[in-house]
Amino acid sequence: SDNGLALTPQMGWNTWNHFGCGISEDTILSAANAIKQHELDKLGYNYVLMDDCWHAPARDPSTNAPVADPEKFPNGVKDLSDKIHAMGLKFGIYSSAGTKTCAGRFGSLGFEEIDAKTYAEWGVDYLKYDNCNNEGRAGTPLISYERYNNMSMALNATGRPILYSMCNWGEDGPWNFAPNIANSWRISGDIYDNFARYDDRCPCTSMLDCKLAGFHCAAARIIDFAAPVGQKAGTGHWNDLDMLEIGNGGMTHDEYVAHFTMWAILRSPLILGNDVTNMSNDTLSIITNQALIAVNQDPGTGPANRIWKKEVFTGDGDISLWQGSLQNNVFVVAVMNTSPHNQTVDILMEDAFLDQGAAYQAQPYEFFDLWQKDSNGNWGKSIGTVQGKFSVTVNTHGVKVWRAIPKPSNS
Ligand code: DGJ
Repeated sequence: SDNGLALTPQMGWNTWNHFGCGISEDTILSAANAIKQHELDKLGYNYVLMDDCWHAPARDPSTNAPVADPEKFPNGVKDLSDKIHAMGLKFGIYSSAGTKTCAGRFGSLGFEEIDAKTYAEWGVDYLKYDNCNNEGRAGTPLISYERYNNMSMALNATGRPILYSMCNWGEDGPWNFAPNIANSWRISGDIYDNFARYDDRCPCTSMLDCKLAGFHCAAARIIDFAAPVGQKAGTGHWNDLDMLEIGNGGMTHDEYVAHFTMWAILRSPLILGNDVTNMSNDTLSIITNQALIAVNQDPGTGPANRIWKKEVFTGDGDISLWQGSLQNNVFVVAVMNTSPHNQTVDILMEDAFLDQGAAYQAQPYEFFDLWQKDSNGNWGKSIGTVQGKFSVTVNTHGVKVWRAIPKPSNS
């Protein structure tokens, strides 16, 4: 979208993954306070997003304007957004391009203008727009486009910059029609707090399929979906791999590290989905890895590409090599292991710099391990000079990721 927003992938926190429908003004303000307290906003996590279930039972009967649940939000949405703005944060809301949201609250189909106008009056900075109860208005890119474009136009018409996050689960190939109308689009059914259980309920390729599926996609499955569509993303328009599960308890440390790493290098929005008021040090240290956040927020470049993927145990996981370009002739290289065993592999510079050509493949690089700290306590410890190839061991369900900087060959 050309609304000037999401020049780099958006970052923030969303209620859904941890709280589901159990939200209130209090849940959201407590999260906003925790974001300030841990200074997560200074790292870029500045959008506080209210997902499904904020709604009153019905719209205002006289104006059709949306109304929030008066018990959960006794002071109204405008007051909540004012408070969040006063903290220096931004505020986002949720609706569905259907008659009802996924949780059965009133949807925006046919009410795009009044909803966008009201959101703007409430000081909303971000809309996540879901796909439930769309009355069958899907099935071709054109039909989906129309439904999502109606809200895009309504948001633009308000004159308020509102980041537009499309959530149609990859249905009808949003990467082909969303870049002009939205700032990001989901590419799969819902993530759940599991790394590599290749769940046959994912992908969902149609509305009905998605509903039956219960939306569940393990993290590694979503990464598989992201690999072929990376080049569709860029400044102002990103593939959304769904909200993070780090800190929700279902994955191991190595799995959460892999989850964060891949979301970062694939330039997905980084939207925390845990209870930020109650985080372990481990969770905090993963989500605050500044070296990976810098990769995610690197200006002017796109997602890392998957160079190769090798199945190591039939149907039971694989090793993959990823590489992306950063500004100033710096690169990011990663290896992911979704198999149930630790794996030792050779990384050939010929592969890692496939797209850059022979000179890049031949020259030496300094590699910095982005999950080790240097002597100043910053993420990204030099592991020395690499030329030609090197061997690496990657834990089961883990990753290794490096920043690679070309070295003058006489140094
Ligand atoms: C489906 C979306 O994909 C989720 O992220 C979440 O917004 C739920 N709907 C809310 O009902």
